[in-house]
Amino acid sequence: MDQRSIGVFDSGLGGLTAVRELCRLLPEEDIVYFGDTGRVPYGSRSRETIIKYARQDVAFLRQFDLKAIVIACGTVSTTALDLLAAENPIPVLGVVEPAARAAAEATRSGRIGLIGTQASIRSGAYERHIAACRPRAQVIAQPCPLFVPLVENGRIRPGDVVIETVAAEYLSPLKRAGVDTLVLGCTHYPLLEPVIANYMGPEVRLVSAGAEGARAAALRLEEGDALAGRAAGRCHFFVSDRVDDFSRLASLFLQRDVTEDVEQVDISRY
Ligand code: DGL
Repeated sequence: MDQRSIGVFDSGLGGLTAVRELCRLLPEEDIVYFGDTGRVPYGSRSRETIIKYARQDVAFLRQFDLKAIVIACGTVSTTALDLLAAENPIPVLGVVEPAARAAAEATRSGRIGLIGTQASIRSGAYERHIAACRPRAQVIAQPCPLFVPLVENGRIRPGDVVIETVAAEYLSPLKRAGVDTLVLGCTHYPLLEPVIANYMGPEVRLVSAGAEGARAAALRLEEGDALAGRAAGRCHFFVSDRVDDFSRLASLFLQRDVTEDVEQVDISRY
């Protein structure tokens, strides 16, 4: 048993899709979440900047007594996981390998679509992990740079002409390619599931990187006998920009009312 908290971070609020799955699987765990809302999006930035920001995010979280850190961000997982894991004495877990494995298992035709930020697609990390599980799989990758700002602004509903237009432009090459599985390689994208599923059709299976990462993290803690084993855990939320809208937006990602406090952090100090 290990009563320490699990640290989770993302460039913004997308990582809350992983928190939602973690809380569902492990309701007894305390979670400390940091969302770098002052500097989102990361996905259009250079590798060097993403690494610098991710190191600061981890340094902030390491002030707490943690048993593991979950990088609930496709962009940081594709770009900085190995580095962060090597630099820290506690497990640092990403979302890419679990999502790639789930997609390789889900596909029947071997044609897998992948959507993510520019940095995630540029890294080739999802393709490498899919190839390791299923060498003959064909991955058709599409960066979707407008999705994160639209999600952070709540433009997620089917029927919203802005998100529907942007989604059709990004997803049409994948639909034409006849993929039967689509990896949502960014933890913001599950909020767009209704829009994406409508466009791709019911025969295409969607794999969420955040949920798969959370499942893999839960399994790792369980296998390491590191679960908290208490009655009920709590979530502590921190962001790097204004906190005013946090409860409303966070409740969209967590799909529950958010009554916990949220604190603002000056992340440049870390
Ligand atoms: N949730 C982040 C990810 O999974 C969003 C990236 C961004 O900030 O651009 O990649």
